[in-house]
Amino acid sequence: MAATASGRQAWRQLLRNTPRGPAPKQQQYRSAFSRQISSTTTQASSRRAVPQSQSPSAFLRQQPLAQRSYSSGSQGKNTPPRSNSNQVKFWPFLIVIALGSGGYMLLVNRRKEMPPTTTTPAFSPTDVTVLFVLGGPGAGKGTQCARLVRDYHFTHLSAGDLLRAEQDRPGSQYGQLIRDCIKDGAIVPLEVTVALLENAMRDAITSSGTKKFLIDGFPRKMDQALKFEEVVCPAKLVLFYDCPEAEMEKRLLERGKTSGRADDNADSIRKRFRTFIETSMPVVDHYEKEDRVVKVDSTSTPDEVYAATQEKLKKALGDKL
Ligand code: C5P
Ligand code: MG
Repeated sequence: MAATASGRQAWRQLLRNTPRGPAPKQQQYRSAFSRQISSTTTQASSRRAVPQSQSPSAFLRQQPLAQRSYSSGSQGKNTPPRSNSNQVKFWPFLIVIALGSGGYMLLVNRRKEMPPTTTTPAFSPTDVTVLFVLGGPGAGKGTQCARLVRDYHFTHLSAGDLLRAEQDRPGSQYGQLIRDCIKDGAIVPLEVTVALLENAMRDAITSSGTKKFLIDGFPRKMDQALKFEEVVCPAKLVLFYDCPEAEMEKRLLERGKTSGRADDNADSIRKRFRTFIETSMPVVDHYEKEDRVVKVDSTSTPDEVYAATQEKLKKALGDKL
């Protein structure tokens, strides 16, 4: 029993890597590993001593788990003393944490110094009045815009007209893209349309000093709406002409007899209707939620529709009209 107790003491000393004094005579240890490493003198201090009276496996079972040593066949001869590897080193973790925190603080501070990323629109809405004019193809947007220009001195910019002009401009890199989109009733990438509108607004402001715009057939898609209001000018409201599809189709087919437009044919008209419902109506819904839509039923004659337009716009805009 005494031999076992002092054997454990010696074992603990080994774990602490402290030099071991000469073992008392009566303590006859044999190392659990001595058979494996007997020739390695440097390993002598790390050997696990087992009282002679016990088998190594019985001795190991009595040890607290942390003190047990498991050796695989490949370990042995030059394995460093177990006692060293049991001491967990914290300083590398501390260095990693310190470096990480330092880097993070540096990033945070740098972000604070950076200018805000919000874009200022090219034109201020207090200075420039923009009305978006929406409605399905053939709803009568162009017809009503012409009257508003006549009576209220708006500058009328039709996104479709600007795209057709760009499509026909010699040397335009977007000509073919625009042609394909128009024929399929698809939406032209927003960068092209927004840039065309911004340039046209700037030209009009510079040449005639106008400050009131009807942007017709725009925005036809949410991304166009968001981009335009972010970089060009926030709109006052959306003038939305509501018309049944059958009536619009009848008008477009009639117009197709003389318009010369590549998309005033039955096939393109069908695609334009689908694009309008799937892509453009969500834009109207978006502005409706923001209470920025003036809706006019455009099924009746142009005069009647215009009368309704004037009445509703006067109510919504007051002296801005
Ligand atoms: O407005 P309009 O009917 O003249 O538009 C003709 C075509 O121009 C559309 O069908 C579409 O292909 C393209 N367009 C567009 N984005 C807009 C307006 C028109 O892609 N905002
Ligand atoms: Mg039009």
